[in-house]
Amino acid sequence: MPDSHAPAPTVLDEILSGLSAGQKTLPAKLFYDDAGCALFGRITELPEYYVTRAEMALLGRHAGEIAAHAPDGAALVEYGASDEAKGMALVDSGRGAFSAYVPVDIAACALEAIAQRMRSSHPDLPVLPVQADFLQALALPEQLGERPLFGFFPGSTIGNFRPPMARRFLGNVRDTLSVASTPGSVPCLVVGTDLRKDKERLIPAYDDAAGVTAAFNLNILNHVNAVAGADFDPSRFRHRAIWNAHEGRIEMHLESTVAQTVTVGGRPIAFRANETIHTEDSYKHTREGFAALALSAGWRSGGFWTDPESLFGMHLLLG
Ligand code: TRP
Repeated sequence: MPDSHAPAPTVLDEILSGLSAGQKTLPAKLFYDDAGCALFGRITELPEYYVTRAEMALLGRHAGEIAAHAPDGAALVEYGASDEAKGMALVDSGRGAFSAYVPVDIAACALEAIAQRMRSSHPDLPVLPVQADFLQALALPEQLGERPLFGFFPGSTIGNFRPPMARRFLGNVRDTLSVASTPGSVPCLVVGTDLRKDKERLIPAYDDAAGVTAAFNLNILNHVNAVAGADFDPSRFRHRAIWNAHEGRIEMHLESTVAQTVTVGGRPIAFRANETIHTEDSYKHTREGFAALALSAGWRSGGFWTDPESLFGMHLLLG
């Protein structure tokens, strides 16, 4: 039984518990300080990072068909909105189907900026940003009133969750969208997932020639220094991207180039030479694998789209 009186763990507790494990880890949310948000923006433009372009190509072709599944007057609820381009593609193809845009993100990196840009390009569309951890139950703005909801989770962010967590997230979203859905309508969620492909294509997407992904991964150490009073020297770590074929995921690690001891919140953390911090996973689900995962969270498949090169997939899930 969880102790309801125990205080919520602080970010320092989370960092220390990750760095005390056999395989060291850090909370992935720490990637997104201001520098991390800017670096991630550059990742999406890298020649090797096909993910964002493939997803935009998919939306360029199929946004109309996807949006046609939205109930009339629906609010578009976008989880993990990192920019407005994908949401806007649906809104613009929806021919007035959408009556509000609700970008949801914890990092809030760009949440206000997204909202501002959407308001200026779509002055008649209410834009109601929600800063929240979408892994928890979500309270949607009351101004949404009785609008039906259409969930959207692009960017392959779901690939950054391990399957049990992805299942829990999909179940929570289903609960959130069902509570709000009008009698007789079923909850709908559109999820973008990068597809399984050759390791020769995957590895460079997460270890580019210009070193932007390396800088992004290493930047988490600067953020830890700032929030946990730590003294990581990023020049004593190197970025590693590994394809784990058994799990079907790219793993991002930071490898200590030397044996060293780092102080974190006053505690010594020892590293062996070549020991790694496992910072992130990016699962590459097959179409069938993702449909099965969604089914196990109570959703059924209502449609699937891909880009001309079959790099990226978009699933319509019905509750
Ligand atoms: N959702 C993105 C992905 O998995 C996030 C991402 C891209 C990322 N490159 C990264 C996360 C490098 C950590 C490190 O494709």
